[in-house]
Amino acid sequence: MKKLAAGNWKMNGTLASLAEVGALLGDHPKPACEMLLCPPATLIAAMSTAARGSALMVGAQDCHPKPQGAHTGDLSAAILRDAGATHVIVGHSERRTDHGETDALVRSKAEAVVDAGLVAIVCIGETEAQRDSGKTLAVIGTQIDGSIPGGATAASLVVAYEPVWAIGTGRTPTLSEIAEVHSFLRGRLRGLIGSEAEGVRILYGGSVKPSNAAEIFAVPHVDGALVGGASLKAADFGAIVAALSAA
Ligand code: PGA
Repeated sequence: MKKLAAGNWKMNGTLASLAEVGALLGDHPKPACEMLLCPPATLIAAMSTAARGSALMVGAQDCHPKPQGAHTGDLSAAILRDAGATHVIVGHSERRTDHGETDALVRSKAEAVVDAGLVAIVCIGETEAQRDSGKTLAVIGTQIDGSIPGGATAASLVVAYEPVWAIGTGRTPTLSEIAEVHSFLRGRLRGLIGSEAEGVRILYGGSVKPSNAAEIFAVPHVDGALVGGASLKAADFGAIVAALSAA
């Protein structure tokens, strides 16, 4: 299985930010891991053009569950594919919180992504209150059962474990807490999709930086990272790519 370094630019970036792509590819033309950036939707086409023929893949941060139709302001997986996206993040905690997205909606979005021939990156993670009350595995188990599309395969599904309290805070779980969740997720995926589970990349996300990447990547069943803030600068994301390539 090739590991995956995925960057989520969130609501950051303009055309000028594409200079980071040139810098990233200049320093890391052929990394041993896969490399993906998910910019705002307005930049997908231009970033795909800038990345053409390179090791960098381009993804989206969300999509609508329907393939087309009267849904003002929304983007379907097919439209994102047409712009150059190969992956779509679904169920990020910021969407679950800001837009009230449920597991059922996340699953329907993930199904739409897979139906469009793209890779779905399904995000799950507990809040701080849930962790403090010992409910982490129960919460994550419910989220994964409810969010994973039916016929998911190793090629069409990536899972990202992102504790809500670790996103953008500089705080991370301990390595043993990450190990516990990732091995729990592998087992749960076996129950859901059988032997395909072995090849599904399970990413860790939440305050991944150049300074903590190597130790997180050494944890069993951590197959890469979903990186927010540190993916905006080529130097930081490149250092994370290098750490994953060496893992
Ligand atoms: P962060 O965000 O790396 O800035 O903590 C991670 C994410 O939300 O995907």
